[in-house]
Amino acid sequence: MPTPRRHLALCSLALLFAGLLTACSGAPAGNVENGKKWFTMNNCNSCHGEQGKGGRGPAIVPLDMTFASFVKKLRKQDAAIMPPYPETKISEQDAADIYAYLKAGK
Ligand code: HEC
Repeated sequence: MPTPRRHLALCSLALLFAGLLTACSGAPAGNVENGKKWFTMNNCNSCHGEQGKGGRGPAIVPLDMTFASFVKKLRKQDAAIMPPYPETKISEQDAADIYAYLKAGK
């Protein structure tokens, strides 16, 4: 029979694990200023407009997607128009910066 103290230890372990999982699945901290630069340097603005507010392509500000879906959208060729951006072009950190920039946009 588990003693109350042992039960407590197990619970804190579970909590710790849940916390780690959340930390791991979250977006890396992004830098809005850098994101603005990458957005232009990678020509996202040529389709999505100066601040992602729409141009030839759709508006993506305000951005309503998780970081995971955002990265998936960047990496994967699943659209006729938008080109894929592999890790060699846009690193995970750059993606996080762009994500932060778009998230900050209104
Ligand atoms: C050649 C034009 C073009 C370029 C360049 C381009 N996009 Fe796109 N993008 C599109 C089009 C068109 C869509 C909508 C169709 C689709 O989902 O592919 C889209 C969709 C998206 C979406 C999904 C929007 C939603 O609500 O589902 C995101 C996010 C996005 N683009 C971000 C970017 C970023 C960041 C860059 C630069 C790294 C970029 N795009 C460069 C044309 C472009």
